[in-house]
Amino acid sequence: MKVFHDLQEWRQHPRTGTLGFVPTMGALHDGHLSLVQRSQQENQHTLVSIFINPTQFNDPKDFQNYPQTLKEDLEKLAHVDYVLAPNAQQMYPNGYHYKVTEDEVSKILEGAHRPGHFDGMLTVVLKLLNLARADKAYFGEKDFQQLELIKGMANEFFLDTEILACPTTRESNGLAMSSRNVRLKDQNKAAQFPQLLKHPNAKQELEKAGFEVDYVENWRGRTLGAVKLDNVRLIDNL
Ligand code: PAF
Repeated sequence: MKVFHDLQEWRQHPRTGTLGFVPTMGALHDGHLSLVQRSQQENQHTLVSIFINPTQFNDPKDFQNYPQTLKEDLEKLAHVDYVLAPNAQQMYPNGYHYKVTEDEVSKILEGAHRPGHFDGMLTVVLKLLNLARADKAYFGEKDFQQLELIKGMANEFFLDTEILACPTTRESNGLAMSSRNVRLKDQNKAAQFPQLLKHPNAKQELEKAGFEVDYVENWRGRTLGAVKLDNVRLIDNL
């Protein structure tokens, strides 16, 4: 495994064969590793990026509290060809002046509760896809609205990388894996979220169970929900 902290070094690195790309913000769990596994099955080489993107955090506290686990992450990626782990200065050398804005899908659901989040996410994903120049890139369905926006952007901007969706990986209790789960006091209580999301009166049932509900809505054939528990924000979709 070769780690690139320097973007120029990565861009100059000679390329051979097909490349699969898994963008992450680190704090890797089995969900990320399932994306890596799929990339390794479908491509000759795999690149994983680790970059905690400041521009997609609408809440500064969430950014400060986001787990930083580079050493452990690199150990989990020992079997991967390449890791790209740049810093913010490299990714945003002139600050955050150029950005990708989508003005329909990005304004609803997550976008309505996290202003600016999807601009930051799309901006960094465009940068990363241009840096990776991969054949295929893998994204989890847990972030369904993110996935739909990335597919839309790739289509609108004629990007050559194929965007692939991978099913949500869950704990044995049903809780969707997320880097933020480490901050939960009671993961079994949190596991009621996907269960109650199935209920016809999901919002009321979730509130009764002690969740603070941001939204429960049907969108593009799925039920999407976002809740807070122990001050940790969880999203899921079925
Ligand atoms: O889903 C994530 O971890 C992030 O939003 C992504 C796609 C790596 C962009 O920072």
